[in-house]
Amino acid sequence: METNTGDDSSDPYAQATDHLLDLLVSLNPHLVADVGCGDAGVTFDVAQALPSDTILYAIDHDPTVFDPPFNEHTKVHCTVTTLVQEVNELTLPTEVDVIFSRFLLLNLPAPLAAVERMRHWVRPGGHLVLMEPITSTGRVEGHPLSVGTDEIANPDIGLRLYELLTNVGVNEPSIAAFTPVGLGESLAGRYLAAMTGVDPDPTSFVSLPTLVLAWGQVQ
Ligand SMILES: C[S@@+](CC[C@H](N)C(=O)[O-])C[C@H]1O[C@@H](n2cnc3c(N)ncnc32)[C@H](O)[C@@H]1O
Repeated sequence: METNTGDDSSDPYAQATDHLLDLLVSLNPHLVADVGCGDAGVTFDVAQALPSDTILYAIDHDPTVFDPPFNEHTKVHCTVTTLVQEVNELTLPTEVDVIFSRFLLLNLPAPLAAVERMRHWVRPGGHLVLMEPITSTGRVEGHPLSVGTDEIANPDIGLRLYELLTNVGVNEPSIAAFTPVGLGESLAGRYLAAMTGVDPDPTSFVSLPTLVLAWGQVQ
């Protein structure tokens, strides 16, 4: 699932992304890592939101995500350093203040191992921040969406973020959830049509998959 974070008028998940950005800024980090950063642009939304003296490590196991236009964004405020790495072999130059990850764990057969590895590189007192979907919550007129999830390892991983953070020693994680809704011709309806190729009826009530944001302090 990818969202166009750069244009709020076409992104029903913009509120969720804004919440993520506000959270990251509020943690006032100097060193940050985005694991499974991809090329969809959230890395640069974060880089623009953080102060200019922040260092942001953008990490992905697929080197092609760093091809242009990734490195051609011009409005970036802070330093972005790219690293080609598997999350399970994550090795940063130093411990960081915050590691965040969006839409990574749903692809992984062993999400706990990945979160453990990320937790290892957060300094004591730093924060782990995860954002993932509960794919099966999507509905049109009360009927489940027929989104192909066979190739997704953990389509409902959003349900497990609290448990995963607790299992790696984050005490009482905070959680928030975002569910874009609207009729067939709304932003949510048009996003659904783009995602599935099926136009919902203009009067149908559409509820997109819920995104869960979970975060907490590493002891
Ligand atoms: C769905 S994209 C999400 C991109 C971005 N985080 C976002 O929110 O738009 C998932 C990204 O995770 C990367 N990825 C998948 N498995 C990975 C792994 N084991 N280690 C590192 N990156 C991985 C993929 O290459 C892809 O770029």
